[in-house]
Amino acid sequence: MNCIAVYSSKGGVGKTATAVNLAYASAFRGKKTLLCDIDPQGASSYYYRIPIKGKFNKKQFLKGKFKNFIQKTTYPNLDLLPSHFSFRNLDLALNTEGDNELKQNFASLKDDYEVLFFDCPPSMTLLSENLIMAADQVVMPVIPTTLSIRALAQSMKLFDKIGAERKKLRAFFSMVERRKKMHVDTVRAYRKKKVFLKTLIPYLADVEKMGVTREPVAVFRPTSPAAFAYDRLWMEVWKRRC
Ligand SMILES: Nc1ncnc2c1ncn2[C@@H]1O[C@H](COP(=O)(O)OP(=O)(O)OP(=O)(O)O)[C@@H](O)[C@H]1O
Ligand SMILES: [Mg+2]
Repeated sequence: MNCIAVYSSKGGVGKTATAVNLAYASAFRGKKTLLCDIDPQGASSYYYRIPIKGKFNKKQFLKGKFKNFIQKTTYPNLDLLPSHFSFRNLDLALNTEGDNELKQNFASLKDDYEVLFFDCPPSMTLLSENLIMAADQVVMPVIPTTLSIRALAQSMKLFDKIGAERKKLRAFFSMVERRKKMHVDTVRAYRKKKVFLKTLIPYLADVEKMGVTREPVAVFRPTSPAAFAYDRLWMEVWKRRC
């Protein structure tokens, strides 16, 4: 099983769009895939139209009792673990209950899934540390702007501090707008660095439309540039798996 955390400390950089579309690409290409929505905003669950069934909350999540709450999506090979509003306090629960075992909890799914995605909340907290440690790869969207590049540098620092291997970090440029000189210059300056994947995701209106269609782009626009870009990104992430 390959665990992929889609993570950035920065908000609004395209983590959820990436997790939703990469999970779809993975499942479409035949891999049994689970998307875990760890963000209390619940955007991945919303996009896949998955409500919470039963009494699921942060306590069950931290105890690893989440198997019963995993739900099938309408797409073959793709399941989703929805988030819960109580996940906003996961950090506090991790601190106070001393539970640091997300990695082992997720390992219990190894016979059920080939690929696990975490849609992480935007933070740099104990929860982020646990998710980074639990992941085999950390995929990080970076908008080609100063603050996003700074978030990447800060994340590298965080990796060092918690003893996570930097070689599992995979950054890629997200929401790239070729008409903006800063985007073009930043991509040119950083693209060849080892931490960056070659594929970039352009700024495309079809990605925003997911909020209306509540489907991955490859479902409602299968031959669109957005669908191709996420599929290419998935192929590269899978090829470079640890
Ligand atoms: N490639 C793209 N082109 C155009 N719009 C995009 C693209 N990627 C994401 N968006 C839009 O940008 C907004 C933020 O994206 P998204 O929710 O994926 O970011 P996020 O990093 O998950 O945010 P948060 O930190 O709040 O969880 C959304 O409205 C989304 O539709
Ligand atoms: Mg998100």
